Amino acid sequence: MTPPSDSTRPAGPSTPPSPEADPPPPPATVRALPGHVGGEVALSGWVQALRVHARVAFVMLRDGTGTVQCVAVRSQLSEEDWALATTLGQEACVEISGSVRADARAPGGHELALSGLRLIGPSEDFPIQRKEHGVEFLLDHRHLWLRSGIQRAGLRIRAEVEQAIHDFFYERDFVRIDTPILTGAIGESAGTLFETDYFGDPAFLAQTGQLYVESACPAFRKVYCFGPTFRAEKSKTRRHLTEFWMIEPEVAFADSDDNMDLQEALICHLVARVLERCPTELDLLKRDRAVLEKVRPPFPRISYGEAVERLNAGGRDFEWGRDLGAVEETTISSWYDRPVFVYNYPKEAKAFYMKENPDDPRTVLCNDLLAPEGYGEIVGGSQREDDLDRLQARIREEKLPEEAYGWYLDLRRYGTFPHSGFGLGLERTVGWIAGRPHIRELIPYPRLINRLTP
Ligand code: 4AD
Ligand code: MG
Repeated sequence: MTPPSDSTRPAGPSTPPSPEADPPPPPATVRALPGHVGGEVALSGWVQALRVHARVAFVMLRDGTGTVQCVAVRSQLSEEDWALATTLGQEACVEISGSVRADARAPGGHELALSGLRLIGPSEDFPIQRKEHGVEFLLDHRHLWLRSGIQRAGLRIRAEVEQAIHDFFYERDFVRIDTPILTGAIGESAGTLFETDYFGDPAFLAQTGQLYVESACPAFRKVYCFGPTFRAEKSKTRRHLTEFWMIEPEVAFADSDDNMDLQEALICHLVARVLERCPTELDLLKRDRAVLEKVRPPFPRISYGEAVERLNAGGRDFEWGRDLGAVEETTISSWYDRPVFVYNYPKEAKAFYMKENPDDPRTVLCNDLLAPEGYGEIVGGSQREDDLDRLQARIREEKLPEEAYGWYLDLRRYGTFPHSGFGLGLERTVGWIAGRPHIRELIPYPRLINRLTP
């Protein structure tokens, strides 16, 4: 009987079957083991752990699709194979053949009765042991730490969220626009720029793709960009990276309320997708799913002014005009059981491109979305200033180099239009969904103020 094909691998180029030779069995993976029960397979992977007794040894094999226990019985193996099986180093790469048994007691529900093995790549003294290591040590060994269970779970959720983001926008007819990383204009604020030399002139690593993505609205109406962004922020907190990934949609003829509706729909879509597709990962991370199941529309919306009043009524002494900090954000989010929008911040607390609020010109039509459980701001968005004179005045007020924004101002000269958009920080969003304490674990290679390697 031919074992069922392994759905996790793409089909290779087909070769005509030779009448003489038996075709080799298709390569199996741990994830596909349920389709191989009773059959023989060869699995390639890495030795996650080894337990050796006098007559039996247990090799935990991880192949990237899952982990399976392989049972080596001394009396059933050659001397050589037994010697190899019982001296495998942690993270050695091996090919293990054997027959597949279903066993409810085995982790994952299946087990391999080992009949042969081949060493592909030896490993001795793997630096990360099954004990507590300091975080700096783990970050120094990030290239090896990626293999551990918690890290794999977090990064798999990240990959699912990335895919879910693309699906969400694709299904809603957004066109993806890739924006430049090397830029000549300041996107957000002058204080946090990484500057580099561009053939004798200064260039900046993009803080945002927003200004560019705005320019694509008249071409495609609904657009988004998704890429790495950079902030030379000297913040050493659990929610700051110097390089992070941001998703930035921009929609023509959408106002600030429409903008919040879109954020709400996106967040609900992402959370539902992770609940549906990553239950194993959430369990491994001990994430309380009940908290995520509450993430449904509508999200509460509170103006900045109301939030300040309520903070002060609760004993704070928070001055109107300041940006909300982590402490205030945590307090505000503790009032609700789902993400909360805080809208219409004072002009001075926000970036130059936000549209003045016609009902209260001290404020701008913008919002932050605060995640529950103290995870803070995961999205920042606004309606954009579409009036040429007001935008120019704001650029001057902020003392930004006007000549660098000539092209951006052109968007207000040639068919200006109401539009809104937002930026969702990928690592902060995934950190919250996965319930991890620090966002550095939700990016394969975190860049932090004191860390550029590995
Ligand atoms: O609020 P920010 O600075 O907004 C913008 O960059 C706008 N141009 C977005 C837009 O309207 N198109 O950043 C947006 C989000 C934040 O809410 C946060 O989730 C994330 O980006 N973020 C960071 N994530 C990790 N480390 C940092 N240093 C971050 N700074 C911002
Ligand atoms: Mg912000």
